[in-house]
Amino acid sequence: QHQTIVKSMEQDKMNLKKFCDIITGAKNIYITGSGTSYHSALLAKQIFSKSKIHVETIMSSEFQYSSDMLDENSVLLAISQSGETADVIQSVKSARTMGAKVISIVNIPTSSLARLSDSYLEVNCGPEIGVAATKSFTSQIALLYYVADIIGRKSNGISSSKDILAKAVIQVLELDSQIERIADQLKHSKDVYILGRSLHFPICLEGALKIKELSYIHAEGMAAGELKHGPLALIDTNSIVIVLHPNDSTYGDTLSNIHTIKSRGAKIVGISNKKEALYDYQITIPTINESLYPLIEVIPLQLLAYHLSICNNGNPDYPRNLAKSVTVK
Ligand code: G6P
Repeated sequence: QHQTIVKSMEQDKMNLKKFCDIITGAKNIYITGSGTSYHSALLAKQIFSKSKIHVETIMSSEFQYSSDMLDENSVLLAISQSGETADVIQSVKSARTMGAKVISIVNIPTSSLARLSDSYLEVNCGPEIGVAATKSFTSQIALLYYVADIIGRKSNGISSSKDILAKAVIQVLELDSQIERIADQLKHSKDVYILGRSLHFPICLEGALKIKELSYIHAEGMAAGELKHGPLALIDTNSIVIVLHPNDSTYGDTLSNIHTIKSRGAKIVGISNKKEALYDYQITIPTINESLYPLIEVIPLQLLAYHLSICNNGNPDYPRNLAKSVTVK
């Protein structure tokens, strides 16, 4: 992923300009996707908003019920690794009938989605074989950061951080054997919660999806601030709580959530660049530009899901009941 993240930002200039011009020319911007690609859309909303661009996200399977506001002044950005997901294709077709422009981010340039789009960008990450999306996710989000950096009024720093990012990804991948040991400790867990705020929240959802898909352990991602509004009732001495907790503007508020969880006896796995005695297990990530943490913090979660699958005799490439590309509704 240290290579694919950088590669996703190597775009043909004219094509990139066309794509960006459609976004800047639209009055309303919507982003859609399914599964992991929907999590990219959720993160994109936050990235774009930090660049002062307002977007709405709509899950592709819900699009038909909540798309009434699209019109000829709208653009729908569809994100899909395969470019063949039925829910995404249906969303795009219905956006078209409402007069909206359609742009997309795909990994397969010959896909139906690319063909249905006024403009598309390729993430260039190469074929992704495993059912669970991994490198395509980090490539999608790197490209979304890049687009936001170009069209936004405020830089998110990705354009000047490519080398630093690549190095940081390599450092995170080196944590593999430590994460394998943590997976061995957690392999009999029944429930895993993943908490984080702001930009980390979509990564909590994505991490939980990876753990569910690969290890069949119940996992739930949640915005840390929502803990006290219900989920806290579930926390006890058997709970495992993973916290996305780099030292950024969310640090203090999330730390108080950790105190609350710890006092209920749950085990805490902290993913952070700062040492914290409250964690039972610490996965230390490098310090980078704070808006870019999602790109590196998702990797320990991908590795954890992989090792939990192996520990529980699963097949992380081909989990039961799932398909790489869901082309039926
Ligand atoms: C399937 C896969 C997921 C993937 C989703 C969307 O459900 O199992 O891993 O995230 O489809 O796929 P897409 O190709 O549209 O990104």
